Amino acid sequence: MSDGIIWYFAYGSNMQSATLRGRRGVAPRSAVPAGLAGWRLVLDKPTIIATGQSVANVVPDATAEVLGVLYEVTAEDWAHLELTEGVGFGNYQTADVSVVPLGASEAIVARTFTSPRRDPALRPSRRYLELVIAGAEEHGLPPEWIAALRAIPAGEESTETEQLWRAVDEALQTRMVAGHAVVIRHATIEEILPLRHRELRPGRPIESAHFDGDDDPGTCHLGVFQAAYGEVLGCASFIPEDWQGEPAYRLRGMATRADVARSGIGSALVRRADVLLPDRLRGGLRWCHARVEAVSFYERHGWRVVSPRFEMPDVGPHHTMVWRRSVE
Ligand SMILES: CC(C)(COP(=O)(O)OP(=O)(O)OC[C@H]1O[C@@H](n2cnc3c(N)ncnc32)[C@H](O)[C@@H]1OP(=O)(O)O)[C@@H](O)C(=O)NCCC(=O)NCCS
Repeated sequence: MSDGIIWYFAYGSNMQSATLRGRRGVAPRSAVPAGLAGWRLVLDKPTIIATGQSVANVVPDATAEVLGVLYEVTAEDWAHLELTEGVGFGNYQTADVSVVPLGASEAIVARTFTSPRRDPALRPSRRYLELVIAGAEEHGLPPEWIAALRAIPAGEESTETEQLWRAVDEALQTRMVAGHAVVIRHATIEEILPLRHRELRPGRPIESAHFDGDDDPGTCHLGVFQAAYGEVLGCASFIPEDWQGEPAYRLRGMATRADVARSGIGSALVRRADVLLPDRLRGGLRWCHARVEAVSFYERHGWRVVSPRFEMPDVGPHHTMVWRRSVE
C-alpha cells in the first residue's frame, strides 16, 4: 500500500467488474485472481438490509483458502467501498490480509471485508450467487472453485426484494450535480434516443439521431438520469472506433437537456465515463467530431483540437478533438 494505492481482495459480487463499476462506482487500476489462505468463504451473512437472504463473508479458518480477485484501487475508491459496504455501521469490518496472486509465490498485503454477523439459516439469492459466479468466471478462477460456488444452495428472491435492491442500487449511485440528484449509469439506446434527437437533430426524422455503431456490442451509452423520476437529463455514447490505429472510443451524441444545460451535467457525465467504460485500454483514448460551439466545453475537460474546422452536412462546422488519459 503506497502512493495512495490500496490492494482490495474481493470474494463476493464485487469480483464482477460490472458490479464494482456500476453499483459501487469504483474503477480498479488492475485486477488479478488470487488466493487468501487461512480464511474460509461462507455465504451466511445477513444482507445489509434485512431481506431474509444472505451474502458472502470470509471467516478465519487455518485449514481453508478463499479464492477471489485482488484489485488495485485508489484510497478514495477504498473509502467509497467502506462507505457502501456499511463499515460505518458494522455491516462489515475491514481486515488486513496476506493474499497471493494465483501462480505467484509472493504475498501482497491487501484489505478485505469480514463480518462476525452470521446466520446459518439464511441462503443467498440465486441472483446474487450468479453475480459471484460471473465474477469468478470473468477473472478466470479455477473450474473447481466455480463448481464449488455453483454447488452453494440458493433461494429465489421475491419481487419485493428485487425492487428493494433496485432502490438501494439507485441510492448508492445517486450523486448531487449542481443541485440535481442524479444517477449516472449505462443506458440503452432507447432511453437516450429521444434526448439525442431533441438536442442534436431537432426537426429531423428520429432515424437521423441513430448513429452507426449504436448497436455495436462494445458501445457504451451513458445517461444522466434524475434520481427517483428517471427522466434523462444528459447522454453520451462511446463507440469502439480506433483513432489513427490505436484502440479508442469515439464519443458521439453528447447532449444535455436544454433547460438544465450549463449546470454541470455534461461535465459530470464526461468525468464518470472513466469509471463506467469497461475497456480501460480503449477508454484511455477518445476522439470526437465536436461542434465548434462545444469546443470549449471539451477543452475544459482536457480534450484538444486536432483538425482544422470542417463542415458536417446538415449539422454545421466541427473540429476533430482527442482526449488521452494522462500518465498516472
Ligand atoms: C455541449 C453540452 C453537451 C455541454 O453540456 P452541459 O451540461 O451544458 O455542460 P456543463 O454545464 O457541464 O459545462 C458547461 C461549460 O462548458 C463550456 N461550454 C462551452 N460552450 C458551451 C456550450 N455551447 N454549451 C454549454 N457549455 C459550453 C463552458 O465553459 C460552460 O461553463 P459556463 O456555463 O460556466 O460558461 C450541452 O450544452 C449540449 O447538449 N449542447 C447542445 C448539443 C451539443 O452541442 N452537443 C455537443 C455535440 S459535439
